[in-house]
Amino acid sequence: MSSLQKTFYIETFGCQMNFHDSEKVVGTLISEGYAQVQREEDADLIFYNTCSIRDKAEQKVFHRLADVKKLQKEGKRFAVLGCVAQQEGEKIFERAPYVSMVAGSASYHNLPAMLVQIEAGATRVTGLDDRETDQTFETEFTARTNPHRGYITIIEGCDKFCAYCVVPYTRGKERSRTSQSVVDEAKRMTDAGYTDIQLLGQNVNSYRDPAGKKSFAELLTAVGELPGIRRVRFTTSHPRDFTKDIIDAIDAVPALCDHVHLPVQSGSSRVLQSMFREYTREQYLERIAWMKAIRNKEISITTDVIVGFPGETEAEFGETLSLLDEVGYDGVFSFKYSPRPNTPSLQYIDSVAEGEKSRRLQGLQEHQRELQRASYSRHLGQTLEVMVEGKNGARGQIIGRTSQNKTLNFVTHDQRQPGIGDYVQVEVTQVFPNSLLGKMVG
Ligand code: 5AD
Ligand code: SF4
Repeated sequence: MSSLQKTFYIETFGCQMNFHDSEKVVGTLISEGYAQVQREEDADLIFYNTCSIRDKAEQKVFHRLADVKKLQKEGKRFAVLGCVAQQEGEKIFERAPYVSMVAGSASYHNLPAMLVQIEAGATRVTGLDDRETDQTFETEFTARTNPHRGYITIIEGCDKFCAYCVVPYTRGKERSRTSQSVVDEAKRMTDAGYTDIQLLGQNVNSYRDPAGKKSFAELLTAVGELPGIRRVRFTTSHPRDFTKDIIDAIDAVPALCDHVHLPVQSGSSRVLQSMFREYTREQYLERIAWMKAIRNKEISITTDVIVGFPGETEAEFGETLSLLDEVGYDGVFSFKYSPRPNTPSLQYIDSVAEGEKSRRLQGLQEHQRELQRASYSRHLGQTLEVMVEGKNGARGQIIGRTSQNKTLNFVTHDQRQPGIGDYVQVEVTQVFPNSLLGKMVG
C-alpha cells in the first residue's frame, strides 16, 4: 500500500440492510482510491453505519463516538452514516463536533461527491433526505465479505408507517430496482461462484418493477432458476403485501428456500390495528395456512414480536402467546417496545411499565423456547443438506446451515474435510432449542 493512499475504517450496526449498504459503501470507497483498514487507529476516515430501530441501538453509536473522541487530535475525520445520521441530522455535529459528515442511506449515491468535499477540508458535509429521492444505491463494485453467500438489494425505503417504526423516516420512500438489474447482478454473482443469494428490502413484498416486467414472485423465480444457484432467500416480508404467488413459487422452484420470515408483531387484532399494521390476526393466520398447505416442502416460519406496545393488556399479550402456539414458529425475535422519534406511537401513552415489559419479554422467550424444544425434535434422524460455513475448532465440529436457515453443526469421520461453501448431507443426531447437531453422511 502506498503511504499516500488514504485509508478508511468502517463499523456497522443494525440489520442486514445496513450490513449490505456497508459492503456497497466499501466498494465505492475502494473505487475512489481508498484502502480499508481494520483498526480506527490506522484510518484517515472513520465511518459508523448506524441503527436507530430501538433506543439501545441508537445509544451505541454515541458511546462509540465518545470512545474514539481522543483520535480526533491525530487529524482523523469521522462520518456517521445510516439511520441515526438520517434521524438526528445536523444535531450530530452539535453533540460530537469532531464529526465531519452525516449521511442517511438515501444519499449514498452521492458519496463520491461528499468525499470530494471532505478531502477539500469541509467539516459539515451532509447527505440528508426528506423522503424525496427516487434513486437507488447501485455500485460498480460491491465489496462482499463472503464469497459464497451474498445479498442483493431489490427495494429501498418504506412507505408503511407502522406506528412504532423509524424506518420510513430513516430510509426514505419506497423505490425498487428494475428486475433486469437485479437478475443481472445475481447472474454476475453466480458466475463468480455464489450459490446462495438473499434478496433484501425493508418490505420486499411491495417490490414493483419500475419497468413493469416482473412481480416479486416472478423475480424470485428468475433468480432461483439461474444456472449454479442453490439457495435463494428474501427478507423482510410484510403480511399485508404477502401474496399467495410467493408461496406457489417457493413450492415450484427447488432453489427457493423453505423458510419465510413473516413479522407478526402482535397476536391481538386490536393491538395490530393500533400499530397500523393493516391486517388482523385471522388474515395473518390465513397466510400461515398457505405456507402449511404446499406440497413439495415444509416451510420453516420465523417472526418478530414487540411486547408492551402502548395499551397492550395482559389478555392481549396472552393472544400473542397463543399465536405462537398456533403457528409453531422455528424462531421468534422479540423486543420490548421502545418509543422512537417522529413516530405516531410517540403520541400514545407508553402505558406498560418497564418491569412489566421485561416480564412479558422473558415470559414470551421461555414459552417459545419450550415450543422449539419440542418442535425441533422433528429433525432427529433426518438427513439434511447444509452449506458449510466454517469450523468450530474448540469442539472439532464443522458449522453448517440448512436451507431452512438453521444451524446444523456436524462431525465427520471421513478423511476428506468439506471446505467452506461446500454442500454436504448431514444426519441429525441431536436437537437443541436453537440448533441441531449431526454427522456427515454419504
Ligand atoms: N420498539 C421495539 N421494537 C421495534 N421494532 C421496530 N421498531 C420497534 C420499536 N420502536 C422491531 C419490530 C421489527 C424489528 C426489526 O424490530 O419487531 O420487525
Ligand atoms: Fe436499524 Fe431499521 Fe435502520 Fe436497519 S433499517 S439499520 S433495523 S433502523
